Amino acid sequence: MTRYEPWRGLALWGQEEETAALEVLRSRSLFRYYGPELLHRTDSFERELAELLEVPHTVAVSSGTAALACALIGLGIPEGAEVIMPAVTFVACANAVVWARGVPVFAEVDDTLTLDPVALAEKVSDRTWGVLPVHLNNAAADLDPILAVARRHDLVVLEDAAQAAGVRYRGRRAGSLGDAGAFSFQLEKNITAGEGGAVSVRDPLAHQRIVRYQDQGGQFTTARGESRAQAAEPFLGVNLRMTELTAALLRVQLGRLDPMLAHLRSVAAEVRAALPELHWRRLPDEEGSGGDLTFFLGSRLEARDRVAALTADGIPAHTLYQGQPVYSSPAIRAGRTPWGTRWGTPARCRDSEGLLGRSVTISLGATMTAADVRAVITALRG
Ligand SMILES: Cc1ncc(COP(=O)(O)O)c(C=O)c1O
Repeated sequence: MTRYEPWRGLALWGQEEETAALEVLRSRSLFRYYGPELLHRTDSFERELAELLEVPHTVAVSSGTAALACALIGLGIPEGAEVIMPAVTFVACANAVVWARGVPVFAEVDDTLTLDPVALAEKVSDRTWGVLPVHLNNAAADLDPILAVARRHDLVVLEDAAQAAGVRYRGRRAGSLGDAGAFSFQLEKNITAGEGGAVSVRDPLAHQRIVRYQDQGGQFTTARGESRAQAAEPFLGVNLRMTELTAALLRVQLGRLDPMLAHLRSVAAEVRAALPELHWRRLPDEEGSGGDLTFFLGSRLEARDRVAALTADGIPAHTLYQGQPVYSSPAIRAGRTPWGTRWGTPARCRDSEGLLGRSVTISLGATMTAADVRAVITALRG
């Protein structure tokens, strides 16, 4: 048993979510494009998310993985093109690149636990098409130097903001600085409906392609507005549509986002300030962060023991991704995709392996009280 719930958006679910869900159920119109009494909740969610992010377009889809794949496909990734991503991330990043027929390439992270811009520049080759920086655990990646490398080599930038909805980097929201951004609304995320995702995108043609791709190539979207014959660049798609029920829940959750991030940020700042002797993860923008409590110890063994001790004290602690870089997955190591073997064993990122293995992360919860914060500080003082 942990002494507080480590959930983010889910911890705040209440009457408003129930009412929003009930309205959709009573309308019997759970499909976003038509129904007996369509409430257009998905259209509204897309508009509200775009306003929050200050981007021209967003597209709601069924998951964060779908959002990544839609963005890559919408931005026109060529077959076999390489996309550079950090060695420390969730496997969905590699999976989405494979889905879009690209090849994932892994680069070192630095003490921000996000993509190291120097390592990124070293990995760029004539096969590189894009870069996929990941905003890990509610802290933004250091985007300015990453964007500079991308500009120098004419690379597409897709931000993975699955774990950082609402977080800011130098005043702008994660997912709004590159060519596109991807968000997840899975159960652990800042705003959640259990599952769900969204793409933010600047270019109108890429936006149009994403809208069509997630809807069987424009099964219902083109039927509503332009005719299929008029559609520029028609191409086949799949079904990755968001349901009205999901969007209704997410609209309520979106309204809770900024106060929740402010709370998490103040909790993290208080704990970090109380323990300046710990080697905290560097946050490229502490002000804009949504709060993260990750620190590094001297060895893997020390980190494992500290996680065990914190857990015994009821504090939800873990080492991110069990201390394993994303390429340690047997399928990635073997280059095995659903379409056959596509690459050889990726080069190891030993600095990232070291940092990740020696790290300890305490999960923050949206409903943490002052007593919970004191308990975390006491447990960390050990
Ligand atoms: C960094 C990152 N990218 C992508 C995803 C994929 O999101 P989903 O689980 O909604 O497909 C996740 C989900 O955990 C994630 O953490």
